[in-house]
Amino acid sequence: MKTQVVGGSSAVHEAASLLQKGEVVALPTETVYGLAAKALDPAACARIFAAKERPLSDPLIVHIPDIDWLDRLAKSSALAKRLAQTFWPGPLTVVVERKDCVPDLVTAGQETVAIRMSAHPLFAKVLKTLGEPVAAPSANRFGRISPTTAHHVLEELGGRIPLILDGGPCAHGIESTIVLVVEDKLQILRPGPVTKENLSGFAEILECESDVLSPGRLKSHYAPQTPLEMHPSSTLKSWPRSHNKTGLLSWQHPLPGFQAVEILTSSGNAAEAASRLYGAMRALDAAGMDLIVAEEPPDSGLGAAISDRLRKAAAR
Ligand code: TXA
Ligand code: MG
Repeated sequence: MKTQVVGGSSAVHEAASLLQKGEVVALPTETVYGLAAKALDPAACARIFAAKERPLSDPLIVHIPDIDWLDRLAKSSALAKRLAQTFWPGPLTVVVERKDCVPDLVTAGQETVAIRMSAHPLFAKVLKTLGEPVAAPSANRFGRISPTTAHHVLEELGGRIPLILDGGPCAHGIESTIVLVVEDKLQILRPGPVTKENLSGFAEILECESDVLSPGRLKSHYAPQTPLEMHPSSTLKSWPRSHNKTGLLSWQHPLPGFQAVEILTSSGNAAEAASRLYGAMRALDAAGMDLIVAEEPPDSGLGAAISDRLRKAAAR
């Protein structure tokens, strides 16, 4: 199959019409690129799992065209509605009790469904044209780094899907925050651009124990092919010189003794670091290193989400 990469709003109708026919297309969101198919059409969703080689046990996020769809897909929750009104459209996914119209394939048979509304203008236009929700995981092959440019999607899924809608680089660069709504409390299943600090005013935040609820919390995920380790900067300053070619994924400053270096944010800005993270991981992966060492980010705010992704990349 030939994969077309098409830019701009002219391709919106083409994307919507492919989706309407039950095809999969890659679309830009404000977090990472997603691989979309009609959420209420199990045969269309099956194509997502096939293209990504994703196990059927890993449920999909449903992206909705407008906030009214929350009530159509999920049982009513006052807390979910307040979060939606505050953070949508935007990088927050809520996991709530589902209604029967949501296919089992989307929820992996669970009684909950993950829902979000993207703020990306092209994504929003496609959904408005289509007039119904799409399921969309990140547009990478299973277990690999999420794509933050159309070119990354082409590397991951070229030849497997008909269309990539190019909306330029993703603004946030890491996946949405996922919260499980448990009556009037919240559990953060995946840290992301909407931080714990942002959420704590809305509800008590429960500590997360179970890895079963969100397969995305599997330790190994978001991984480059090259082995990756995370270390505090104090360790990296006296990194042992060895025969191995080692690449540095630095938070802010270059350090001597490495064969390849990517700096996430020379100004120390966590949002900039997040937006560069996956591109930098891909660049170091392509640089032919034996090992990538990543400097531990600050562990609050968005730094927590970046640490989470680096820990998962290191857990391969
Ligand atoms: O930013 C994002 O969230 C991107 C863009 C494309 O929207 N999507 C994304 O999807 O990261 P994905 O499939 O790569 O990661 C979503 C995670 C999966 O690990 C899945 O296990 C979890 O969300 N998930 C989906 N439905 C769930 C549910 N009902 N309960 C718990 N976890 C769920
Ligand atoms: Mg993913």
